[in-house]
Amino acid sequence: MIHELTKWLAASSASEAIQQIFWLVPLVQTVHLLAIGILVSSGLLLGLRLLGLAWQDQTIAATARRFLPWIWSALVVLFVSGSVLIVGEPGRTLGNPAFWGKVVAIAAAVALTFGLQAGLRHGDTAWLRPGTAWPTPAARVLGGASVLLWLSALVLGRWIAYILEA
Ligand code: HEM
Repeated sequence: MIHELTKWLAASSASEAIQQIFWLVPLVQTVHLLAIGILVSSGLLLGLRLLGLAWQDQTIAATARRFLPWIWSALVVLFVSGSVLIVGEPGRTLGNPAFWGKVVAIAAAVALTFGLQAGLRHGDTAWLRPGTAWPTPAARVLGGASVLLWLSALVLGRWIAYILEA
């Protein structure tokens, strides 16, 4: 089924148009890279706070309010720019295990980020041990797992180019 989809996309007029505009793919790749910078740096900094390794003078809720809008906006840009790259050259990604590994890592990181956001309904004390600035064990697990997942998406994204279909 993936093979059929790849063939259909490759033969589409959208794919042809993307390939013919010579500056489009480098421009979209640059936008993708900029959004990766914003997403991964925001994800790592928020992860450090969740792990209790940075900004103990700020609540987790305050740090999350600062970085979550950047994470969600960068994800939208990544989704749009990534989709253009897929349509332009579907054979590079849709049959590529590194790409699907990246999709799984992103989906899991997004699910954890939703979980973090849902916990913020408890207000400024969310994810903190009562009466302290220290993260709860759940916050530390969430922070550690998110950092690992964003870094996995980064490595797998770069890996796509090295596992190309024959
Ligand atoms: C959200 C949906 C996303 C889609 C649909 C998507 C899709 C793509 C595509 C099609 C490529 C080109 C691969 C190639 O031809 O070599 C790419 C590159 C890449 N992506 Fe994404 N991506 C997304 C999100 C992300 C995220 C969240 C990260 C990192 C956390 C990421 C990291 C990378 C990296 C590192 C590259 C390689 C860039 C380069 O070497 O020039 N992507 N992505």
